[in-house]
Amino acid sequence: MRVVTGIRPLGDLHIGNYLNTVKQYLELQEKHECVFFIADLHGITTPYKSNIYRKEVINKAADILAAGIDPEKCIVYVQSEIKEITELAYLLSIVTPAGDLQRMTQFKEKSKKQKEVNAALLNYPVLMSADILIFQADIVPVGKDQKQHIELSRTVARKFNNQFGKTFKEPEAKILESSAKIMSLREPKKKMSKSDPEQSRISIFDSPKSIKKKIMTAVTDTGKEIRYDPKKKPGISNLVKIYSLFSKKSIKELEKEFKEKGYAEFKKSLVGILTESFKPFREKRSNIVKKENNIREILEQGKKKAEVLIQPTIKKVRKKVGLV
Ligand code: TRP
Repeated sequence: MRVVTGIRPLGDLHIGNYLNTVKQYLELQEKHECVFFIADLHGITTPYKSNIYRKEVINKAADILAAGIDPEKCIVYVQSEIKEITELAYLLSIVTPAGDLQRMTQFKEKSKKQKEVNAALLNYPVLMSADILIFQADIVPVGKDQKQHIELSRTVARKFNNQFGKTFKEPEAKILESSAKIMSLREPKKKMSKSDPEQSRISIFDSPKSIKKKIMTAVTDTGKEIRYDPKKKPGISNLVKIYSLFSKKSIKELEKEFKEKGYAEFKKSLVGILTESFKPFREKRSNIVKKENNIREILEQGKKKAEVLIQPTIKKVRKKVGLV
């Protein structure tokens, strides 16, 4: 079984991303043949800073490696390094209905935020299809928001197969359910998001000082009991949930443990738990970034392995389409 997924380079790896995506990739890499790439070409379809982008891509690679993605077990590379992917995206666009692209929910939402909508944003899902189909992927683990894009890649595969003969496998989406929906530390009714201010989210690479600051100033609720009740007490419930996920203690146990205690004491204890649990990530990351050449070497090896896997497919496609 081959698993393929991409991660856009923007933003830090906050605990919501870690728990709901990266942690699940770690399980997949133990069981399947996995391909994880940094989707740098997708990252430039909306406004970005070209002067620091290269650094952001390397940082994102450092993040996922420090989080536990293991280059011995899976292929890790940067999307733009494999030219065949962009080539395939173009070739797939000849069978992709333009109307389908215009109807994509994410395209419509992102378009609203732009003064002028570029063609790359419209073609975003075609490039995604190329990312996936070029590997003959069986499974694509993604968040719910990407489900429609995976469905499109199935349509594209089917249309290509119908027109040119069987070439691609139709991939299955594996929706990474937000079993652990983590909320913003500032506005606990909103999901923790990388597009919100830094103080509203916590990263597995945060320093002890920053963990302390963010948790101690996290929004809580009126009253003083430590109780899990997301409707009435969204702030404290979110912190109890985070505590439970990183301490392996159940919510019930925590409610009991902190029954007679106030918010400050609970928060202090949470700071301790997070500081300890994130320590290995912080250490691993700082070792990795010390040798940027190592990261580049890993990505180079990943690229080479990926190139071997995709050759038969891209050759077949060129031939079927009728290119010289
Ligand atoms: N669009 C995806 C996201 O924003 C990232 C991505 C790019 C991707 N190419 C992919 C995911 C291919 C799965 C497969 O999360």
